[in-house]
Amino acid sequence: MVNFNFDCLEKYTKDCDDIFTKFKNENKYNDWYNLDVDIDSISSLASDIRNKYDAMIVVGIGGSYLGSRAIIDALKEYKKGNTTEIIYMGNNLSSDYITDILEYIKDKNICINVISKSGNTLETLISFNILLNYMKEKYSDFKDRIIVTTNSIQGQLLDIFNEYGFKRLNISLNTIGRYSVISEVGLLPVAVAGYDIKAIVDGAKLCKDNISECYKYISLRQEMYDNNIFVESIDVYEPKLYYFTEWVKQLFNETQGKEDKGIMVTATINTTDLHSIEQYYQGGKVKVFSTTIYNHSRKSIFIDKYDKSLDEINFIAAKSVIEARKHRFKSNLIEIDELNEKNIGYLIFFFEMSAIIGSYLLNIDYYNQPDVEKYKNCIKSALNY
Ligand code: PA5
Repeated sequence: MVNFNFDCLEKYTKDCDDIFTKFKNENKYNDWYNLDVDIDSISSLASDIRNKYDAMIVVGIGGSYLGSRAIIDALKEYKKGNTTEIIYMGNNLSSDYITDILEYIKDKNICINVISKSGNTLETLISFNILLNYMKEKYSDFKDRIIVTTNSIQGQLLDIFNEYGFKRLNISLNTIGRYSVISEVGLLPVAVAGYDIKAIVDGAKLCKDNISECYKYISLRQEMYDNNIFVESIDVYEPKLYYFTEWVKQLFNETQGKEDKGIMVTATINTTDLHSIEQYYQGGKVKVFSTTIYNHSRKSIFIDKYDKSLDEINFIAAKSVIEARKHRFKSNLIEIDELNEKNIGYLIFFFEMSAIIGSYLLNIDYYNQPDVEKYKNCIKSALNY
C-alpha cells in the first residue's frame, strides 16, 4: 500500500490530464508505459541461471543497471546474500574496482548479463571486454554463460553478439534507458536475485490505474519551479533505499535537466544525513523542497525507554524533520506499508510517469540527454574511437 500526502494547490491538474492524453497518442519512446512484459520467459531464464550459477555479473551503466540495483537493494535483507548473487560492473572505469571484482569471482561459478541499449557505451564495453577475455580463458562453455541485452539493429555490442552467437534479449529502440527497469533490462537481474517480478509489474499496473496521484506531485513540483525553487531532495529513512534514490536522481535529472530548465534532484539517507546536509537545507543559501519516502518496517524492535517500536521512532524522526522545515519549505510524504515488490513497482511507475508529464509542462524533450552525449563524444575523440 502506498499513501501520498502532497501539500499542493493542484493548479496543474488539468494540464497534466491533457498532457497524459497527448503522451499516449504520440506513441513516442513509450514502450515502457505499456508494461507489456513477458514475465514467463524472463522467469524461466532466471530460474535456469539460478540453478546453474553462483553469481551473475550485470555489466551496464545508467539506466542499464540502476533500476535493477535499486530494486534488489531495497528488497534484500542486510548481510544475507541472495542464492544467486548479482555483481555489478561497467558503471565506472576504476582499475581497482575491476581488479577486485575479478579477484572476488575467481572461485565462483558465474554468468554475465551485459546490457546496453545503444551497444556503444564506453564503460560497459571496456568492462565487458575484460570479462569476455576472463570467461574465454576460464570456461570452455563461455558462450552459454553470456546474455547480451541490446537493440536489434546496431551497435558494437550487437556486433560482438553476432560474432559469438550469445543469447540476446531485446531492448526496444522505442524505450529509454532510464525507463527500462520494468522490462528485460531490469527484471532479469531482479528475477535472478530471487524476487517476484510479477508482483513488481502488478504494482506498476496499479499505479497506471491511479495516475491522478502523479498529477498532484507534478503540480507541486511545477509550483515550486514557478517560485524559483529548483532543488528537490528525496529523503528516505532506510539505508536499503540508497540505490532507489540514485535511480530517482537519474530519472529526473536526465529527463528534465536540460535547456537551462528542470529541478535538480538530490537525496538524503536518514537519519544519517540529518546530522550533515540537513543543516544546509534549513539554513543554507540554496532553497530546496523535499519528498520523503517512508517505508514502515515489519521487523519489530521495542524500545522500552520510549514505550515505542523503533519503526515508530524512525517515523517520528521523519515527521519531526518535516515539522522543523516548515519555516523554510514544503515537504511531501509518501508512506508505504512495507518494502515489497508491489510497492516498489508502484513507486517506479509513479516516478516515471511524473518525470515525463512534468517534462511536457517544462516544454522539454524527455527522451534525450544531449549533454550526456556531449561528454560521450568528447571522450570518444580523446580516445580516437
Ligand atoms: O537513461 C539513459 O538513456 C542513459 O542513462 C543510459 O541508460 C546510459 O547512458 C547507458 O546507455 P546504454 O544503455 O546505451 O549503454
